[in-house]
Amino acid sequence: MATKKCNKKCAPQECSQLQQHRGKFKPVLPNILKNGPASVKVKAGKPTKSVADQAKVKKIFPHTYGMPEIAFVKGANSAVSKKPINAAVVLSGGQAPGGHNVIAGLLDGFKKANSRNKLFGFLGGPSGVIDCNFIEITPALMDKFRNTGGFDLIQSGRTKIENDEQLSKAKENIVNNKISAFVVVGGDDSNTNAGVIAEYLKKEGVDASVIGVPKTIDGDLKNEQIETSFGFDTATKIYAEMVGNICRDVNSARKYWHFVRLMGRSASHITLEVALKTHPNITLIGEEVLAKKMTLAQIVDYLAKIVAARAKDGKNFGVVLVPEGLIEFIPEMKELIAALNDLLADNEEALSKLNKVSEKKEFVISKLPKKLADLMKSLPEGIASQLMLDRDPHGNVQVSLIETEKLLIEMLRARLAQLKKEGKYNGKFSAITHFFGYEGRCGVPSNFDANYTYALGYNAAVLALNKCSGYLSSVRNLVKSPKDWACGGIPLTMMMNIERRKGKEKPVIRKALVDLKGEPFKQLAKNRELWAKTESYLFPGPMQFFGPEEVTDMTTETLKYEHKKK
Ligand code: FBP
Repeated sequence: MATKKCNKKCAPQECSQLQQHRGKFKPVLPNILKNGPASVKVKAGKPTKSVADQAKVKKIFPHTYGMPEIAFVKGANSAVSKKPINAAVVLSGGQAPGGHNVIAGLLDGFKKANSRNKLFGFLGGPSGVIDCNFIEITPALMDKFRNTGGFDLIQSGRTKIENDEQLSKAKENIVNNKISAFVVVGGDDSNTNAGVIAEYLKKEGVDASVIGVPKTIDGDLKNEQIETSFGFDTATKIYAEMVGNICRDVNSARKYWHFVRLMGRSASHITLEVALKTHPNITLIGEEVLAKKMTLAQIVDYLAKIVAARAKDGKNFGVVLVPEGLIEFIPEMKELIAALNDLLADNEEALSKLNKVSEKKEFVISKLPKKLADLMKSLPEGIASQLMLDRDPHGNVQVSLIETEKLLIEMLRARLAQLKKEGKYNGKFSAITHFFGYEGRCGVPSNFDANYTYALGYNAAVLALNKCSGYLSSVRNLVKSPKDWACGGIPLTMMMNIERRKGKEKPVIRKALVDLKGEPFKQLAKNRELWAKTESYLFPGPMQFFGPEEVTDMTTETLKYEHKKK
């Protein structure tokens, strides 16, 4: 079949056919932004307060606490175009589809205000801010990355700008390069950092705006004001395609149980969304396990009952979804992980001197209270050592490296063997494991994410041009057509509470976990018995960019059901 010529000026080896056509996609700007920053005015709401621990958060953020929510309304605002400015962006944390379109939205927003405005990109994440490592993002460079997945234009990293030395370095580099708008694209922790930097610059009398953009495939940076983080839509579409394919495979071969662990760090939003899209036989939701205070043994029992019941019907096959954060929600494991977090932070030096995993394990066991030491001893060697791996710079356990699905299978095998002895199970259990995470983080952004990220970036530029600082770019009404999306900013401090990190109390943006009273979870709860017994699988297939709008532009089941309640 003849392929159409595209007008992008890149060599064939640099660009796939899809990339060439996708490069021509023009994101739809919300009506309120479409005439440019000079036609948008700021409407400030009432003063705000943090979601919890108000006195403590206020004390830490005396200059940025309590700012009003911002909504954009139509109106002439020529002030934003007067003087050319330098702006800079940094991508922080894990990749999420649409990051490049945030940068494209920023660039177009700043250039529309004043063609002499410049946008720089700090390289390699926040460490680029500290080391003053950046490039200019010119329109020609940007054109090669529009509507593409990945963060490769400027890369990302997980360094934190937190201590006095790092903050002062960041300030120095911002001031020396006359940067008056600094945009941090990140998840809850990175945006907490954005809040810290905004506060620090205000305290130091630096006239620069700091704006955050809600990014993370995990979907856990959301609240009353932020409907979803970008990347969740695309990543879940990619995972759902793969899980749907596995469902079809099990139903064809009828001989394996597939255990699929899905990314998402603590929250189970990705797992829930993929379940609603594919109807697997079993879906574990970490938040439910915590609410019901389920032990590992009880979870395994739940799995065994379904496996045995299906075996009775001659069905020795099925699909199980496991959220990667499950382990942190099992109360006994949660307690162990929290104790390990503190212990690893307090004994960093002593542990660094031990080379062997077995020595580290022994050391850790000797310091844990008896109950937790016994639990640690009882865990399979692999899982115990995975639990002791280094924490990320924010003090989080790296759940993506813990193979919970293998732990479950090992324990389930033992339980099924016991049931067999008791004459309660007479099936065959053959298990295959998968971990889907990195596969979804750099996918070509869906139409939704391409539009959403472009709007978030453009909106962030408008916030910065209006000298708002300490705000998260907010684009709402996401189940409506993009042209009807509402735009504005939410004070970062409004989303914060105090949590324990690396053994200390810290202000952090509150993570949104799966709401067990929310519609998306209720849908799963209503249907899961049927899905366990039957093969009610759905096959979403690959994400579509061209074709009928109801296929190309559909939003997530999560957004759909969350909006249904309103
Ligand atoms: P962010 O929270 O930074 O967006 O990262 C999300 C995530 O993809 C998690 O789902 C996963 O647990 C983690 O990153 C993996 O981290 P890393 O990229 O450092 O391996």
